[in-house]
Amino acid sequence: MARPPAACGRAGSTGAALTAMLRVSGVSKRFGGLTVLRSVSFQVAEGAIVGLIGPNGSGKTTLFNVITGFHPPDGGDVVFMGRRLVGLAPFEIARTGIARTFQVVRPFAGLTTADNVAAAVLYGRGARHVREARAEARHWLQYVRLEGAADAAVSALTLGEKKRLELARALATGPRLLLLDEVFAGLNPAESAGAVDLVRRVRDDLRITVLLVEHVLRIVMGLCEHVVVLGSGQVIAQGPPVAIQADPQVRHIYLGEGYGAAG
Ligand SMILES: Nc1ncnc2c1ncn2[C@@H]1O[C@H](COP(=O)(O)OP(=O)(O)OP(=O)(O)O)[C@@H](O)[C@H]1O
Ligand SMILES: [Mg+2]
Repeated sequence: MARPPAACGRAGSTGAALTAMLRVSGVSKRFGGLTVLRSVSFQVAEGAIVGLIGPNGSGKTTLFNVITGFHPPDGGDVVFMGRRLVGLAPFEIARTGIARTFQVVRPFAGLTTADNVAAAVLYGRGARHVREARAEARHWLQYVRLEGAADAAVSALTLGEKKRLELARALATGPRLLLLDEVFAGLNPAESAGAVDLVRRVRDDLRITVLLVEHVLRIVMGLCEHVVVLGSGQVIAQGPPVAIQADPQVRHIYLGEGYGAAG
């Protein structure tokens, strides 16, 4: 049920068709003899929330690593707002306006919550005064409702708080496109609902485009305007949530994995 790239999403609030911000074209990636991504192509429209789903090991995180320059692809192209990203270092890609969170949260353990975010401000924008970065960090901590933990050691944060810290750090780099790798995983229902609201606000209020990896289909189908499905490193389906839920291959993959809950 693969769709032409032009069908790649709409801004939920306006309904207007928008141009592709990110174009992934024919991306392949191998680790030794293991082919993890096979000619993956899709686009992310500016202003959209796009979901990237697929079983464990299907290549979702690897795709994020390729887009953000952590792993060079073996073939294909990644173009962000007209600029080719392949060959750029992660910090250079961050400065083009792409931020990501990590599936396994990795804050700087020796820094406070606020200084973790201040470090991200400096990383995203290059040299700036630390005092200014700290002030901006407070703003992002408030945005993710973590201001109460500003001076806490990150080791003292709960998983839900660490996930919000990841999001604050990503936002602090000043992105136009945010890649979220399982930011809802491990959260209790209340935390998860709060995180869903937060992602919506990021898109609606900050006008940041979102590409997110998530296993809970109910969340993906409720939040995303366009969904890309990876199976064994290939795009096996993409389209609006309603079409994805009806797709036989997708149903086959997710049967027995709580597919009915997506309904
Ligand atoms: N650095 C690496 N070196 C070797 N193999 C890797 C590396 N990174 C990922 N892989 C392999 O690539 C495949 C895809 O992994 P990836 O982490 O991208 O999957 P995923 O879709 O994110 O899975 P999950 O849903 O479990 O997070 C797996 O077989 C994994 O073991
Ligand atoms: Mg992963």
